[in-house]
Amino acid sequence: MHLPVSAVLLAVAGPATCQLNKLAKEAGLEYFGTAIDNPSLNNQNYMRIARDSDEFGSITPANGQKWSNTQASQGRFSYGSGDAIANIAKETGQLLRCHTLVWHNQLPSWVSSAYSRDQMERILTAHIQNVVGHYKGQCYSWDVVNEAMNDDGSFRQSPMYRAMGEDFITHSFLTAASADPSARLYYNDFNIERCCNAKINATWDMLLSVLNAGAPVHGVGMQGHSRVGKSPSKREMKETMARFLQLVNEVAFTEVDIRHTSLPVGEAEREQQARDYVEVVGACLETPGCVGVTVWDFTDQYSWIPGQYPGEGEACLFDRNLNRKPAYSSVASLLQSAASAGLRGSATAAPAVVTGTPTMPE
Ligand code: G3I
Repeated sequence: MHLPVSAVLLAVAGPATCQLNKLAKEAGLEYFGTAIDNPSLNNQNYMRIARDSDEFGSITPANGQKWSNTQASQGRFSYGSGDAIANIAKETGQLLRCHTLVWHNQLPSWVSSAYSRDQMERILTAHIQNVVGHYKGQCYSWDVVNEAMNDDGSFRQSPMYRAMGEDFITHSFLTAASADPSARLYYNDFNIERCCNAKINATWDMLLSVLNAGAPVHGVGMQGHSRVGKSPSKREMKETMARFLQLVNEVAFTEVDIRHTSLPVGEAEREQQARDYVEVVGACLETPGCVGVTVWDFTDQYSWIPGQYPGEGEACLFDRNLNRKPAYSSVASLLQSAASAGLRGSATAAPAVVTGTPTMPE
């Protein structure tokens, strides 16, 4: 008899009645988190789940802290959208994964003008000092630089890169570190999960050069956006994490969603999605330097996918009516099994932060 993955996992672990973050911590992760966007803040049923720290131990503002929201006009900073989400973390005790300082997207047009190296350096310094300074002490981590590389391994021709070359990355990390020495500083990107493509190799080289220039990069965030049935395997993801962990102290899955490429879907596709989610969370559990998993919102109601990929979607752990999907049950059961098996011992202590220059691995 062929049992669906959720049934197998439930049979092994018993019904998953506990919530994801509680189970994740029992299994030795630091958190299981979610992104939250401002339009969802008025939805009481949504917020009841989002604010439940047993369900989600960490929250990431999906848009509120981005450049277009924090400094739409040069020198005029505004924090309303970011604060609305940061304040939830203050109230609930959830961790705040701050996102994101330097990205080519959602950038106001004034940043895209042709600037000299010195001008861009001053623009980056002012932005990072101001935004990181505003949130100082509140951010468990910052996604300092987001998506600097192309899939072919070349540097993305962003306004920052055009003005400063790859030095913009070093400068951003150094400035963030001095503005909030307690935040863990991440490089965050997509398509760096499946070992080992051109982008992963180039990202590794870029990080080595940034670290050797004396800038602190504490973590690599693998976003984890993928498609049902085409996601990287646990083995591929573990291999990738092992490579990045040669350079940095920690890695995390920072924006996980696994979308169906055609809708509507049936039970078989939902079971495949459950298996794909289990591979991601399993890869993290089996990698001691992987500190947590964040989903890029937990309900299809607020997923970015249909806006960006019309006809695709249902990528999240909860459906648009806030019902838990098979993927939720399977992830919960996996975490419960890992906790019972003591896979990683008890909850991990915070890893030491890397500040020195790394030794070049052979
Ligand atoms: O703010 C305007 C609003 O004024 C306007 O009325 C509305 C009409 O469409 O658009 C609003 O802007 C939207 C913005 O989200 C805020 O809701 C943009 O159109 C929309 O494109 C934007 O999408 C965001 C996307 O980043 C932009 O690339 C998604 O919500 C957000 O989830 C997504 O997140 C990114 C991560 O930051 C980095 N990694 C990839 C991930 C998915 O793209």
